[in-house]
Amino acid sequence: MSKEYQSAVRLCEVLYDLCGVLLDDSKLYLIENRVGGLMRKMGYKNYDQLADAAKRSDASSIRDSLVDALTTNETYFFRDQQVFTGLSNHLVRQIEQDSRKSGVRPKLRIWSSACSTGQEIYSVLFTLATTIENLDAWDLTLLATDVSPAAVAQARSGTYAEHEVTRGLPQAQRDKFLSQTQTGWQVLPQWRNRITFGQHNLINDLASGNRFDVILCRNVTIYFDAKTRKLVFEKLTRRLVPEGYLFVGGSETLLDLGDAYKPHRLGAAVCYRPQMHQAAIANPQAPLNAITSLGLAGTKLASPVKR
Ligand SMILES: C[S@@+](CC[C@H](N)C(=O)[O-])C[C@H]1O[C@@H](n2cnc3c(N)ncnc32)[C@H](O)[C@@H]1O
Repeated sequence: MSKEYQSAVRLCEVLYDLCGVLLDDSKLYLIENRVGGLMRKMGYKNYDQLADAAKRSDASSIRDSLVDALTTNETYFFRDQQVFTGLSNHLVRQIEQDSRKSGVRPKLRIWSSACSTGQEIYSVLFTLATTIENLDAWDLTLLATDVSPAAVAQARSGTYAEHEVTRGLPQAQRDKFLSQTQTGWQVLPQWRNRITFGQHNLINDLASGNRFDVILCRNVTIYFDAKTRKLVFEKLTRRLVPEGYLFVGGSETLLDLGDAYKPHRLGAAVCYRPQMHQAAIANPQAPLNAITSLGLAGTKLASPVKR
């Protein structure tokens, strides 16, 4: 085994400890592609030196740079259209009906828990704004978080290049919700301000005690191993209201986690409703069994920034 291979593996272990993302042998090429330049720019001679530096408690900016470089932020507007149609045609209509019956203000809390550069949560917002006649009459909470600070910064600013906007965003919505800038497009402030953005690592507990009606955790746990994935879904379940909906990516399923999560249809969209963890749902602060191999020391966590 070459020394370079061994030190690349060490860097993968650092990434795993930081955010649960597992780069196996088949992905080791990503280390040179994505971190080689960064390492040389920072003045380190090899991955061992970089891994040692990242482990120092005062090196949060190095850890952030590693997470930014090694996480895969692939996303686009209205990815899996049926999710958004399911929310608008079924969930929103149900909430409106309930509100008319009870006379209580309609309420909806949605968390995009691996939001990447923001297209997912903006797709939710644009869907709601297009479906609901008077959005201001709703008690609406939209939270969008990701472990990558660079991704969150872009999501918060709502700035997109032309090619990002043409991926999935209908022109009519682009013209309604975004304005053109010198370099591309930006979501208008009155829409951006409806969302709370923050850096959050799914392997940790969310800082606030908020519960959500809908949690989107799409196309992220495919990068985790089985035990990290299970831990993450347990934590997310604690942040769902008992009758809440959990959405995973189009190619993902929760059926392998036994009968803990039951598939549910919202129109053509399949989501999941947790069946167990009733104790956890009753008490979201109760401790979970820690996964000992995930050394979380030094992971920087910022609480979501409140508007
Ligand atoms: C492929 S993108 C998916 C984005 C969006 N959910 C979608 O489906 O289009 C995966 C995102 O998960 C984030 N991620 C990876 N590990 C994470 C963790 N431990 N906590 C929170 N986000 C994480 C990455 O930074 C990346 O932005």
